[in-house]
Formats: sequence, C-alpha cells, structure tokens
Amino acid sequence: MKMIHLSDLHVTSPNYCPEWGERVVEFVNCQSPDLLLITGDLTNEGHLHEYVQWLEYFRRFKVKDCVIVPGNHDARNDGWELFEEMIGPRHPLWENGAAVIQGIDSTEPDIDSGNIGRHNYAMIRKNMSGKGRLKIMMLHHHLIPIPSTGRERQIPADAGDVLKLIRECGVHMVISGHRHKNWIWNLEGTYFITCGTSTSKRLKGHGYPSAMIYNLDNNHLVADELNVRDGEMQKKLDVNLEL
Ligand SMILES: [Fe+2]
Ligand SMILES: [Fe+2]
Repeated sequence: MKMIHLSDLHVTSPNYCPEWGERVVEFVNCQSPDLLLITGDLTNEGHLHEYVQWLEYFRRFKVKDCVIVPGNHDARNDGWELFEEMIGPRHPLWENGAAVIQGIDSTEPDIDSGNIGRHNYAMIRKNMSGKGRLKIMMLHHHLIPIPSTGRERQIPADAGDVLKLIRECGVHMVISGHRHKNWIWNLEGTYFITCGTSTSKRLKGHGYPSAMIYNLDNNHLVADELNVRDGEMQKKLDVNLEL
C-alpha cells in the first residue's frame, strides 16, 4: 500500500510557488498512490474563492482516494464550514484491510494554536484501539515541538493528554504539518511525522518544500521524503511495525 503525504500547500498565498505546485501534481500522478493524505492549510485565509481555487488545483490529482484534514488557515473566516461543504468531514475516518486512518480537526476559531478536545477522545480510542492493521492519526498541528521553528506557542492545548491516548491505543504513526518544516520523532514506538510545506516559500532557514511517501508491505514500513524543489528523495524510515 502506497500513500503520499502533502501539507500546507497554501495555494492562495502570495508565498505559493506555482512551479512547486506543478511538480507535486506530476509527482503524485506519476507515483499513483493508493491514498493521498493532506494535513491542512490548503488555503491561506479560508475564504470561499480560495476553496474554489483549491478545488481547481486538487482536481488535477489522479488518485484513487484521499483523506484531508483542515489547517488553522482553512478554518479562518468560517472556513471550517466551507471545508465541510466543499472538502469533506473535519474528522474523516478511512480504513481498509491493511490500515485505519483517523483524521482530526485540531483547529480553533481564528487562532493559530490547536486543540483536539476531550469530546473527541472516545472516537479516537474506538477507531485506534484494534490490532492487525497500521494505525495512523492525522491532524494539522504537531503534538511534539519541532526544532528550528522558534518559540513554541501553537502546540495543541491538550497535547499531553492526546500523547497519552496515542500510547494507550498503540497508534503507529501520527502525521501532521503546520510548521513548514519536515521532522520525525519516535516516542515510545510511535512515529510522529511532520511534513514540511509542499508548495509554499514560507520555509525555515535552508529548508525546502517536501512531501512524504509511505510504503507499507505487511508490517514493513518505508518512509521516503521528496525534496520538491530539487527532486531528490531521501529515505527517512525503514522499520518493521508491531501491528
Ligand atoms: Fe501552513
Ligand atoms: Fe498551519
């Protein structure tokens, strides 16, 4: 099973790079993944015309299936309602025989920091507790601080409780975006994978736009990172998971 993870495309931002946007479409269509995962910040301010522009871009991906969660930028200006109308549920659940993916809307009204919310814990526990399949949680915000991103102010308010829940459920991967910088933490067997921005020039230092590619073969997971700017691929994980 092949999955491609994109994040923070910000297609309506002045910092959006059309050239990188084209490369991402070409790459995804060429790789032909089973699933495309997008961890939010599709737009810049969540306005209706931005969602329309996003959909024009998004329709060019030739993928079998896709799971998308909103980012803080998408939720702005009542954009969270437009997300539900035009993209899909804010807490999407996707599953097949090999994997189960729980999407979470971690945004808060018109602020950049996140929150998962206690009312969502039962849903997470129910969908992430089984055995025998890869369990992925996806949300926009990072649950563990990311290096080189300055003073930490935007981590979800209840990150500690959610980390405990993730450990109790034995979630294998938590994928996110928001920081526009790629990073992986391994905490007690769970891989916390933050994808950089795939198409925005709002980068950190010598950072580069990126996408993640996950290949799952039974319990063997390989994660590669694509540098969207120069086309280089780098292996980031090659592990056997306890499913
Ligand atoms: Fe972003
Ligand atoms: Fe964000």
